Amino acid sequence: MGRVTPTVLVAGIDAAGRPAHPGLAEALAGAGLVVGAARHLAAVPVPPGCATVVLGPLAPALDRLAAAVAAGTPAVVLASGDPGFFGIVRRLRTAGLPVRVLPAVSSVAAAFARAGLPWDGAAVVTAHGRDPRPALNACRALPAVAVLTAPGAGAAELGAGLAGWDRRLVVAEHLGTPDERVTWTTPAEAAATTWSDPHVLLSLAPEIATPEDPAASILQLRPDPRPVRAFRPGTNCKIAGGLGGMRVDDQPAAAPDGGWALPESAYVHRGSMITKAEVRALAVARLRPRLGRLVWDVGAGSGSVGIECALLGAAVLAVERDPDAPIQVNAARHGVDVRVVTGAAPAALAGLPDPDAVFVGGGGMDVLAAVADRRPPRVVVTLAALDRVAPAVHLLRATGYAVDGCQLAAARLADLPGGSLRLAATNPVVLLTGELP
Ligand SMILES: C[S@@+](CC[C@H](N)C(=O)[O-])C[C@H]1O[C@@H](n2cnc3c(N)ncnc32)[C@H](O)[C@@H]1O
Repeated sequence: MGRVTPTVLVAGIDAAGRPAHPGLAEALAGAGLVVGAARHLAAVPVPPGCATVVLGPLAPALDRLAAAVAAGTPAVVLASGDPGFFGIVRRLRTAGLPVRVLPAVSSVAAAFARAGLPWDGAAVVTAHGRDPRPALNACRALPAVAVLTAPGAGAAELGAGLAGWDRRLVVAEHLGTPDERVTWTTPAEAAATTWSDPHVLLSLAPEIATPEDPAASILQLRPDPRPVRAFRPGTNCKIAGGLGGMRVDDQPAAAPDGGWALPESAYVHRGSMITKAEVRALAVARLRPRLGRLVWDVGAGSGSVGIECALLGAAVLAVERDPDAPIQVNAARHGVDVRVVTGAAPAALAGLPDPDAVFVGGGGMDVLAAVADRRPPRVVVTLAALDRVAPAVHLLRATGYAVDGCQLAAARLADLPGGSLRLAATNPVVLLTGELP
């Protein structure tokens, strides 16, 4: 018989209020070391005299666990919910510790259950121990997002960052404990409230935030009285029945079902006020949109560039001076949420949240200068007027950007009478990309 390697038993403490796994009591009874947060240690029967390590900092606990494994001492780690889901299992494995996991109901599953909502189409992101902006941008981009929070990066801070986006929030504090509190609120209210840790935040588009049976499980409830928005299916996205106009599928961060660099006919637009498909393809590629990033589309026109960034998972802010520009119509058609700021740049840019990438499709050098001042990692500019090319390159270089550019002039196939084909030239455009080193 081979030697049995001692393993660390990692047990989840349920966020849905269920009793602990039956195997936990037995493991605790024989344990020589138990590691966990103070609230978890207090919630289970740790035998008198058993060594404990209270989390806090993980490094000393990992050392003690490694020593216990080496000595053959049975060790137990207590963690919240499913320890394999945004939890301690990753760190234990990275430290080379062998584990056996007894999972419990995750705080995310419990929060959606308390809200009475399905969550198979939701994105789950974390603001725990990292820059919270990607989590915030996911909430701006997608209709259903759960955020694991941390002190200083919780419902108040995320609520403040959602100003200008139409969202309903569910704040689920101390799930599965006698102090549990589940609150439906708005971004503005959340920003003005002090929440206790731990809590999970659900960020929901209004269409999916209407609680069906408030009395069932929600302790504190402030449902929004507005009617559910009309359901408008998109042309190139899967939309779950009845959930409203935003893209909802089981791969919220994946490439769009219907592709991108779509023909101009996929957008309502006026005259030439749309970035052509071939130019848009390169512009969108250079903007590097993805879930967790914020893209500004400045001089948005039809909104096609920003909308395609949103289809690829980015949060998008479209700035356009024409109040009749069909950005919202196009966004709804394609099942994405684009925040439109009506006003003329550069003035309209003041106070907007910092972007990861900016597309400048309209505006002069003053707009480009204001954009460069905000130091986005990437700037993409399209220019039809040749006399603007050199000043734009010089401005971006002078502000620290590495710039490259090219001229794009597609000639599209077109039919001639009699079955022949010809090439129909589209207007040449210069595309510049500025990147901060
Ligand atoms: C490191 S993650 C752990 C997630 C855990 N593995 C799970 O499945 O729930 C820590 C975060 O989970 C959330 N959390 C954990 N337990 C919670 C509870 N009982 N009530 C509300 N949120 C909880 C909080 O957002 C907390 O900051």
